[in-house]
Amino acid sequence: MPGCRIGFVGAGGVAARHADTLAAFGDVELVAVTDVDGRRARAFAEERGVRAVPGVEQLIDTGVDAVYVCVPPFSHGPVEKAVAAAGLAVFVEKPIGLDCGEAEQTARLLEEAGVVTSAGYHWRYSDGVTRAREAVRDTSVRLAVGAWLDKVPPVRWWTSRAQSGGQVVEQAVHVLDLARLMVGEVVEVHAMGDGQPPDAPGADVDGATVVNLRFAGGAVGTLAATCLLGWKHRVGLEVYAADLAVSITEDAVEVAGRSGESEVRRLDPALAKQAADRAFVDAVLGRGGNIRAPYADAVRTQRLACAVADSAARGVAVKLEEHAHASG
Ligand SMILES: NC(=O)c1ccc[n+]([C@@H]2O[C@H](COP(=O)([O-])OP(=O)(O)OC[C@H]3O[C@@H](n4cnc5c(N)ncnc54)[C@H](O)[C@@H]3O)[C@@H](O)[C@H]2O)c1
Repeated sequence: MPGCRIGFVGAGGVAARHADTLAAFGDVELVAVTDVDGRRARAFAEERGVRAVPGVEQLIDTGVDAVYVCVPPFSHGPVEKAVAAAGLAVFVEKPIGLDCGEAEQTARLLEEAGVVTSAGYHWRYSDGVTRAREAVRDTSVRLAVGAWLDKVPPVRWWTSRAQSGGQVVEQAVHVLDLARLMVGEVVEVHAMGDGQPPDAPGADVDGATVVNLRFAGGAVGTLAATCLLGWKHRVGLEVYAADLAVSITEDAVEVAGRSGESEVRRLDPALAKQAADRAFVDAVLGRGGNIRAPYADAVRTQRLACAVADSAARGVAVKLEEHAHASG
């Protein structure tokens, strides 16, 4: 394969980011784009010198090797299934859906098709996360404290629960994914939303959410999320073990040991995002298996996020095992 030919489904903000990164790789050709909003597809196509096509089938017919699925949560499922049926590699932006049932079905089809998959959990590619994992390698994490304290993103569908799934499913899911990576699987969640939406037309998502988490290894954790601010205030995960405190954000990692003295490493957040695209292209071109968030693993994060949403909606603690059976 001389280079990796890529098509896009969805021509919005995150598609533009991936396209900018991919266009700078010498072994990638951007080929085509489709979007339910034809004007967006045409603008994206003109800017990047690719073809705008009316739908996923026509995108597949252009002969691409791989498809980036950059659609909002409510649009996942049919696109990935068509790509699996065509036997093409797929990069799916997070969250991989609104619920779990559809994502589980898609995972089965992608596995049967045996295609390369990756999900947009790019924190996994951060050097800071690598350093943090090293720091906890020989100890047991006992406490995780996550936060996503931010503004409402500038996309209209985001404040609609039916379209985004709410802040935890749509956004703080990055922190849940990181918590799984750092601490292990979560077996029980108890979440509460404040029941009051942010100030946006037609908004019905919670403005603030808290979650208690119990991990399989015995650790406990919390996640706090709000979208009530006018700026991105704090996003990240802290983990604690005996005589060890580790803090991970997109632009720094801090490790404090027995003496309480910290080692702080600054990070360029763009690098992890670029590394996720590089790993995917390398895998499609058969040059290695450094994909750190394959679709099958992202399904586990999706189960966790859906259990959180379910717990908040019903006002009860939810065990992940029960939730998997209920949604499977
Ligand atoms: N990994 C990250 O850091 C990161 C960053 C930004 C966004 N995202 C995720 O990417 C997704 C998209 O976000 P965005 O900011 O690009 O949103 P956006 O609204 O800017 O773009 C989404 C595009 O998808 C199109 N679309 C919707 N349904 C479609 C369908 N069935 N077929 C074809 N096109 C369809 C819309 O018309 C729109 O142009 C979200 O789930 C978001 O969470 C991830």
